Parts: sequence; C-alpha cells; structure tokens
Amino acid sequence: MAYIMRPPISADYTIDQRWQDYSVSEHATWRMLADTQSRVLPGRACEEYMRGLNRLPILGKGIPDFRALNEVLHGMTGWRVVAVPGLVPDGVFFDYLSRRIFPARRFIRDLKQLEYLEEPDIFHDVFGHVPLLSNKWIADYMEAYGRGGLKVLHQPNRLKQLARLYWYTIEFGLQMTLDGLRIYGAGILSSSGESIFSLESRAPYRVAFELERVMRTKYQISSFQDVYFVISSLQDLMDMTLQDFAPIYDSLVAKQDIDIGLVYPDEIDIPRNEKRIIK
Ligand SMILES: [Fe+2]
Repeated sequence: MAYIMRPPISADYTIDQRWQDYSVSEHATWRMLADTQSRVLPGRACEEYMRGLNRLPILGKGIPDFRALNEVLHGMTGWRVVAVPGLVPDGVFFDYLSRRIFPARRFIRDLKQLEYLEEPDIFHDVFGHVPLLSNKWIADYMEAYGRGGLKVLHQPNRLKQLARLYWYTIEFGLQMTLDGLRIYGAGILSSSGESIFSLESRAPYRVAFELERVMRTKYQISSFQDVYFVISSLQDLMDMTLQDFAPIYDSLVAKQDIDIGLVYPDEIDIPRNEKRIIK
C-alpha cells in the first residue's frame, strides 16, 4: 500500500512552506507567470503595487521563500505571510488579517491551468496580494477588514455583504489616477487576461465606487467581471473603513441585492484614459 505524505497542518491551519521542496518545474511555472505579468503590468497596475513588487523579493528566480519575503515585508508594514494548504475558514482568515498575517497557499498551479484556476494558488496569493501589503493604506485596510469580519462572523447576511467589499476592492478593484485607470485588485493583477480585459475591453462597466452599492452587488467567480468599481485612491479606501459599518448593514436590510451585470442609468462608465479624480 502506498501512503501519501501530507505536510502536517497545525491548529491554526498553517503549514511549513518547505521552500526547498519546490521542484524545478514549479519554480519554472512561477517564472513564466511572473515574466508575463512583468510585461503586462507596467502602465496598468497602480504605482503603489509596482513599488511593492520591486522592493520585495518576489521577482527572483522562482517561487519566493516566505522567510526572505517576511524579512522585508514585516519591516515595511508589520505584515507577514504564512503558508496554508488551501482555503481556511472565515474566522481563521479574519483573525489572521486582524493580526497582519496573510495566509498564502503553498501550491502552484499546473501548467495546463495558466489562466483559469479553480482555486487560487501561491501565484495569486503572493504575486497578486503581497506587493500592496507593503503599502500603508492597504496594510491598514486589510487589518481593518479582518477586524470587521470577526464582528459579523456569525451573521450570514452581513458576512456576505462584507465579502462583496473584499471582492470588489482587494480582489478586483480599479483606481483612478492622474494617469488614468490603474489596477490594484489581486485577482486582476495575477491574471494577464483580466489585466488587459479590465482596462481595455468595452464589455465591462467601470463605475465609481460607492460602499453600499458594492455591498449589494453580487459577483461571479468563474469568469471575468461584468463591473469594476473605481476608487479615487488607496487612502480613500482605507478612510472609508473608519466609519461604523453597523448603520450601513442596517440600511441594507431594506434594500435588494443587485444582480451581476446590472448598472444604473446614473452610473457613468469611466473610460480607461479618462484623467480625473473621482470625488
Ligand atoms: Fe485573493
């Protein structure tokens, strides 16, 4: 009988990254993905992301070693990355974020799944998310998000609304800058197809971020987004979380969810090259 050796999972769901155990082909997959995004992202990703990407040891010869990554990241914003085997329960995830710990999956995708993933992998988690954890505003926002999640952990409706906020900001957010629209969402930044689609395709709507609107909007996980919400700055995103969410949840009780792809007539689609600050 053959036994499959699985890495031990501790009570907090972390595993040892075992960086030395990554194969040559796993490192090569990382390099292929990272090389592609290094060509696609300049001029598309926000400058805060590009700064983090260049300052952290992420663009090396392969999959980053979390020990080296954490040495730099922790010194910048107090965040660190731990390895987990897969999705962790909501309560564990929120608790980690509230303590400035980002759980990243250890595994990397198969070469046959270069664009579409059933479950995000280390490339999504580290290449997509970690550079902006070096930015003060996103570092603070993610911690605040974790604390907010812990407050509504046992309230399914509020939890669903809060998940939409994460989805349309941290995963699929766009930012208006003086140079035009830029990407800050990790789900986009880790996908070459969606990096181009989100900014250049005529198919999706790009509308100004409004907190209640976002928390009412359903989302889809199996294809590119139909709508992207545009913030004016990462600091504005953080400042928005400083308010008490309780009245917002209360006001949402009387309002219906908004279906995927539905955009209101008074919501203006923002062209990619528009150069203005949204207020
Ligand atoms: Fe993600």
